[in-house]
Amino acid sequence: MGKGLYIRTFGCQMNEYDSGKMLALLKKTHDLEPVSAPEAARVLLMNTCSVREKAQEKLFSELGRWRPLKEADPTLVIGVGGCVASQEGALIRERAPFVDIVFGPQTLHRLPAMISEVTRGVGPVVDVSFPEIEKFDALPPADTRGPSAFVSIMEGCSKYCSFCVVPYTRGEEFSRPFDDVISEIHDLAERGAKEIVLLGQNVNAYRGPTHDGRVVDLAALIRFVAAVDGVERIRFTTSHPLEFSDRLVETYAEVPELVSHLHLPVQSGSDRILALMKRGYMAAEYKSIVRKLRRVRPDIDLSSDFIVGFPGETQADFEQTLALIEDVGFDHSFSFIYSARPGTPAAALPDELALAEKKHRLAILQRRITELGEARSAAMVGGIERVLVTERSRKNAAELAGRTANNRVVNFAAPEQLIGQFADVRITAALPNSLRGERLAASPP
Ligand code: SAM
Ligand code: F3S
Repeated sequence: MGKGLYIRTFGCQMNEYDSGKMLALLKKTHDLEPVSAPEAARVLLMNTCSVREKAQEKLFSELGRWRPLKEADPTLVIGVGGCVASQEGALIRERAPFVDIVFGPQTLHRLPAMISEVTRGVGPVVDVSFPEIEKFDALPPADTRGPSAFVSIMEGCSKYCSFCVVPYTRGEEFSRPFDDVISEIHDLAERGAKEIVLLGQNVNAYRGPTHDGRVVDLAALIRFVAAVDGVERIRFTTSHPLEFSDRLVETYAEVPELVSHLHLPVQSGSDRILALMKRGYMAAEYKSIVRKLRRVRPDIDLSSDFIVGFPGETQADFEQTLALIEDVGFDHSFSFIYSARPGTPAAALPDELALAEKKHRLAILQRRITELGEARSAAMVGGIERVLVTERSRKNAAELAGRTANNRVVNFAAPEQLIGQFADVRITAALPNSLRGERLAASPP
């Protein structure tokens, strides 16, 4: 079959990761090559997200753009995957009959077989089941040559926060076997990866079975990853406050490869709202985790997720969120207005607050966190940061760009050979979205 594969991805890092896996898989099985425009493709896939957006509308308007292509050439294969596909299943084909394949986040590994069926004329295929571990077994290793690599260690979520669709669209939590995770990381390190990002919806729920019947938790996994030759930096995302064990806190004391930066979603600072959200912790418990972390890593930076305007959120509730932000001093956030998701318990709660007020609260929250982040960046000026150099600078091709441990982009002048290596860089200026620096002469080549 023709060679072009076009994938349109919406949503989170999990979806980005899944799209990367689809590319690697279809390259292997169907010799498909990524193209940057749908017009150049033989196979068009959409990897959808329904966490917040008016996802259905977005999906069908995108599909509307693909329809003329399919009409002009009926041999094109069009597939819809991801969380919207998981929720809507066969309904997608009722509204858009020209879609050939509907697959869920847990069946993307079956794509090659589905594409073959469609091209053989067997007809459209819908498979949004949750065959769990099969997905990990069937996917090829990541096709990464960069210095920073994502490794999926668990899938799904069993927390059932009252506002969230993920447990319904991605299924319950299940962990990838420890031996598979560690062997993938060995391979990545051999191919030059220096930073490993352990990925999952709640990575601290990780309980990876080993070949000899033991179970490895995230704290132990991190120690094993740190012992892999070549791995110098470890991150994980996302974790949940509920399972942030003392063992994991201790890991920060004992494993220097684990970065001094943690993304730990809190959602709200009001205990009443946290209970309505079914988060399973109170603000004081969240703060206690942060205190313990700072005891062992005084320089740790924290970022978080917030939902503003959850049904019934009063001004007092919102002020408690602002107070938590002052207490913790987050340096970055992913913050959004609550969006009622069909089929979730919170969608049935009365939601009377005016949208204008929700927007106002969101703007106040974001402004404050931006100020805190800028203050943190300003405090970094004059200091020396270890930067993992990832690419040429976007604005100036004569410069390189990399990331600090606390995930800030630094642009600085250096020879191209440094891409993929660590460099020690003195920070000279803090801009709104990046830092500038100069490489220390003593840095290794
Ligand atoms: N595992 C993470 C945690 O511990 O909370 C969250 C994963 S969730 C897919 C990513 C973020 O999307 C959440 O932290 C939340 O802030 C946001 N989110 C999820 N459902 C939402 C909704 N209905 N409205 C607004 N934001 C939502
Ligand atoms: Fe969603 Fe809560 Fe899980 S936000 S992904 S149900 S931890």
